[in-house]
Amino acid sequence: MANPSLLILAGDGIGPEVMAEVKKIISWYGDKRGLAFDVSEDLVGGAAYDVHGVPLADATMARAQEVDAVLLGAVGGPKYDVLDFSVKPERGLLRLRKEMDLYANLRPAQCFDALADFSSLKKDVVAGLDIMIVRELTSGVYFGTPRGITTQPDGSRVGINTQVYTTEEIRRVARSAFELARRRGNKVCSMEKANVMESGILWREEVQWVHDNEYPDVELSHMYADNGAMQLVRRPKQFDVIVTDNLFGDVLSDCAAMLTGSLGMLPSASLGAPMANGRPKAMYEPVHGSAPDIAGQGKANPIACILSFAMALRYSFDQGDEATRLEKAIEKVLADGVRTADLMGPEGGKPVSTTEMGDKIIEALNASL
Ligand code: IPM
Ligand code: MG
Repeated sequence: MANPSLLILAGDGIGPEVMAEVKKIISWYGDKRGLAFDVSEDLVGGAAYDVHGVPLADATMARAQEVDAVLLGAVGGPKYDVLDFSVKPERGLLRLRKEMDLYANLRPAQCFDALADFSSLKKDVVAGLDIMIVRELTSGVYFGTPRGITTQPDGSRVGINTQVYTTEEIRRVARSAFELARRRGNKVCSMEKANVMESGILWREEVQWVHDNEYPDVELSHMYADNGAMQLVRRPKQFDVIVTDNLFGDVLSDCAAMLTGSLGMLPSASLGAPMANGRPKAMYEPVHGSAPDIAGQGKANPIACILSFAMALRYSFDQGDEATRLEKAIEKVLADGVRTADLMGPEGGKPVSTTEMGDKIIEALNASL
């Protein structure tokens, strides 16, 4: 049987640096665990714009549809702020999500013991934290129409975006959340603004419908998203799985990320419907952005990107044990006090570079054999 295929889109800013460390990990699995991948690489975001004049070439889009999984670094940077909205680096990412129909975005927020002191919240609030945010990723206000900026007869302007959700869009992402919950703490909290938005009322009713008809064994609660934001910083361990829409999910997942100590630690998986080979359409990317302020300096933390590859092992390639091996290797390195600059506490010390962090993780993987 052919090796599973991966398309690497490292993108902009720190994307290529952190992805270089992931490539070492991929090679390690080929050499040491007999898990070889066919890896191809291409451009996305500003890097693609520089070459093709668009943030995602059609050929790259077609390739992404064919492979078993896409690994994405990050997109964007100040150099591209002046571009027309339609060719901004972010449009490349949004096109991948939409055309691959990656409707379920899994954003786990786990607090590693060694980092419990690094959160801006008190240690006892975050120690042992393990929550999963499931963000709807292909609809809502990110894609709804009408949208745009129009000029009124009097010269004033109007900006419009539209929040739209259909029954099926809500039900399918709710199912993803309930499925995950069954394999974790068996609890789902759904967040919307049903007190102000009709789409929020529909969201609440449809999630409830999926629960009552298909997952009555899972505990379901509903919360307004603003309260959800507050509860996330007040008592985050009350949550197991959170399911929410595209925009609330964007905001709440950044908030949850910070609970864990650094945005440099958070991976994500974006999953769609099963392909002919039974694997879900999938893209894996760190939650952090391109961090142009530190790009090219070897300061970036590669862990979020490496943990995203661990999610690929688990969700695309049925290698849960190998994913756990990689996560444990990272835990070990952190417990040994190895820190990139973003993880330095007030007591200071000498941070390791991006490459050194990757090497330490490889060492820990070797030690796991
Ligand atoms: C994210 C990012 C993206 C989003 C941007 C880069 C378009 O913030 O993945 O959370 O808003 O979805
Ligand atoms: Mg975001």
